[in-house]
Amino acid sequence: MEQTRLERLYDRECFQEQAQSLLELLGTHLDQTQSGTQEKVLNWNKPENELQFWKDFARQADKGFTGSSLTDFFVNTLSHTIHTHHPRYVGHQVTSPAPPTTLTAMLGALLNNGMAIYEMGMAPTALERIVTDRLCEKIGYDQNSRGLLTSGGTLANLTALLMARQSRVSYDAWQEGLQNQLGILVSEEAHYCVDRAAKIMGLGEAGILSVPVTKDYAMDTNALKEVYQKAKAEGIEVFALVGSAPSTATGVYDPLEEQAAFAKEYGLWFHVDAAHGGAAIFSEDYKYLMKGAEQADSVVIDGHKMMLMPTLTTALLYKNGQDGQQTFSQKASYLLEDTTEEDWYNGAKRTFECTKTMTSLHWYLLMELYGIEVFDEYVTRQYDLGRSFAEQIQADPDFELGLQPQSNIVCFRYVKEDTTEEELNRLNAQIRQKALETGRFYLVQTRLKEKQFLRCTLMNPFTTPEHLQELLAHLRP
Ligand SMILES: Cc1ncc(COP(=O)(O)O)c(C=O)c1O
Repeated sequence: MEQTRLERLYDRECFQEQAQSLLELLGTHLDQTQSGTQEKVLNWNKPENELQFWKDFARQADKGFTGSSLTDFFVNTLSHTIHTHHPRYVGHQVTSPAPPTTLTAMLGALLNNGMAIYEMGMAPTALERIVTDRLCEKIGYDQNSRGLLTSGGTLANLTALLMARQSRVSYDAWQEGLQNQLGILVSEEAHYCVDRAAKIMGLGEAGILSVPVTKDYAMDTNALKEVYQKAKAEGIEVFALVGSAPSTATGVYDPLEEQAAFAKEYGLWFHVDAAHGGAAIFSEDYKYLMKGAEQADSVVIDGHKMMLMPTLTTALLYKNGQDGQQTFSQKASYLLEDTTEEDWYNGAKRTFECTKTMTSLHWYLLMELYGIEVFDEYVTRQYDLGRSFAEQIQADPDFELGLQPQSNIVCFRYVKEDTTEEELNRLNAQIRQKALETGRFYLVQTRLKEKQFLRCTLMNPFTTPEHLQELLAHLRP
């Protein structure tokens, strides 16, 4: 008897065949990208053309997976996407995921345990506790600390600020709504999601107390007191200070110890947005950059950045486990029973999300089964590479370094004698656009103090100084 469409969709043999064909394709993809033999990191296509391509593809495909359309879909997806495993991928902060973590992604997707309550994800809940405990320990927290995993740094920062508000504001803003103007202190170089989180929380522009940076792009802690006192004088109830570790555009870490001391003196919640560089806690050579995070009330670390995992997974670690129980004091009686014991195993009580992805599988696989030494190796290698790339730039008269890199984020620009700043900005924007369209390398751009810079984040564990030398030659107009 012929299978119905639904039966075919769930057919075990069919699934295994498809999976094998995808595995073959991914194996070849890894060969060609990791070795750098594939010519391009991305085949640039204009948005309208890309849209049309996929509309046409759907129109022509065999429906119901009866023909080769699924394999064609895989093949086309590969050729129409950016290749993070290519050593000439030196652009954004999304990592080249360790291939075994794509298997845990598949496992999690098929099992689809929603995790909001314990029985909807027993294993991933236990794994989450193990890995967050381990991260807390590496940060330097004690036994009272706890953590959770959530979908992305943006959501984790929002959750941390909600936790901060419940802990430090003089009334219950979650239940009563805002009764006065609240404010957070944050560097002008912080990731825009902090600004967004504050606005979601109803703080408005007036609640974002922007602290200037020094000439080295770290928060100017000398200016901190002035900004704080001005806000207080205006009647703003300041409840949190956010540090960046590092900030996104420049890769510069804020002086966390000084920030921690300030927060302590004024009774503020100290939150460290270490979405990018929190993994430095694993690096023997670079853990000094995270010094002070052990005094923070909360720290955010992205798994899909410097922890080699696929998108989207973030750890939010907090010093006092009880703070996590108070963030969302609302009731959802069908899910959440009131209890006096610390039911760490009912995740929805502490996370913004109800249903969430089983991403603890990736963390456990890498941290507990593979071994945390791999993060020391990775972070140290990439941060060292940032420093050596800076030396290459400084040795080349056609390029100028934006600032000394502290991490694997390097900002630089093409320079030419007798050229105005305006013209240099235009030239560098053109260089970036040409690189994007050529597709041999992928890098990004940023503005620092009105100057247009090219920006590399050295995420790929196979990028070498030779690739970066070639990049400079490639960019020269
Ligand atoms: C410092 C910092 N915080 C937060 C984020 C946002 O994280 P996500 O993209 O995981 O939401 C980023 C992303 O680049 C970042 O660099």
